[in-house]
Amino acid sequence: MNAATPTFQPLPRAASPLPLFVQQYQGSSELICAELIKGLQAPEALLSPKFLYDRLGSKLFEAITELPEYYLTRTENWIFRTYLQDIAKHIGSGCTLIDLGAGNCEKAAHLFECLRPKQYVAIDISVEYLRTTLARLHHQWPTIPMLGFGADFSSKLELASTVFSSKRVFFYPGSSIGNFSVEQAGLMLQQLAAQAGKDGWLLIGMDLLKSRAALQAAYDDPLQVTAAFNRNILLNVNRLLGADFVLSHFKHLAVFNRQFSRVEMYLQALQETRVRWGALGGGARCFRQGECIHTENSYKYSFKGAEELLNNNGFCVSRYWFDPHKLFCVFLAKAREN
Ligand code: TRP
Repeated sequence: MNAATPTFQPLPRAASPLPLFVQQYQGSSELICAELIKGLQAPEALLSPKFLYDRLGSKLFEAITELPEYYLTRTENWIFRTYLQDIAKHIGSGCTLIDLGAGNCEKAAHLFECLRPKQYVAIDISVEYLRTTLARLHHQWPTIPMLGFGADFSSKLELASTVFSSKRVFFYPGSSIGNFSVEQAGLMLQQLAAQAGKDGWLLIGMDLLKSRAALQAAYDDPLQVTAAFNRNILLNVNRLLGADFVLSHFKHLAVFNRQFSRVEMYLQALQETRVRWGALGGGARCFRQGECIHTENSYKYSFKGAEELLNNNGFCVSRYWFDPHKLFCVFLAKAREN
């Protein structure tokens, strides 16, 4: 071969630009303080579960997913691992993968190999957490364009114009939909369906109703990681509101409410205690011994109930996959034309 002969070498696929981040949700705005204060002053105090996921909270939740009693993540992962080819076959390649509550983006990343998305959009309330994980992910998958959104999609989902509009696949794993009331979940699904467009899909993981003992153990583990996760919300509130919650005055409580088919999570005052805050002019609230702050519900659906929820709110269930014990179900649903 002489020097003039051109040699053809496969060109490396061009790397996509670095992930872009858009901050829609302002963690310190007056609105947030107002929301927190309203919850604290309610006769039955409550704090929105979105405040569980600050930096430390996200890490503690990651630890929860490793617990033997917390079967959800492990079981869902098994379903995705086992049926990945089948799932990808139904969706087809080149989708716009939109990860709702992306966290460490690990679950979505497992789909990349088979799904080959043409764009990956990670949405999470904890932007800082997203920044680090997306940077790492971009390094591993340089050819997939990525977008990070710091957004609270539980109130309203508005996708930026930079999100591709063709074949949107909303990925909503972890049974996070169970953290909404049935009504709220319906509204949120309708919003997703409207944003999905004609060729859109929803790939969603939902925990199924099971024995009280199994549920109780999953939400109140003997290592007390879940307790730490739940109580950490008070640290976050202290920071956001300039409040002075004493953490040792509250204990984690998880109760399965069969009537509403949900696990209810509370922080219960171990003694009479008072919290004061400095934000928005300041204020205070007293808690009697035994009084509770409601932090989260985790609704558990029967298979039929889950299917109905999806079918009644803008989607049409097309496939579903279980684990062998039917603890958990992954649904693939097509957005219905509106
Ligand atoms: N989305 C999770 C779930 O419902 C969140 C969660 C797990 C949680 N354990 C918790 C929330 C304890 C509050 C307290 O399974």
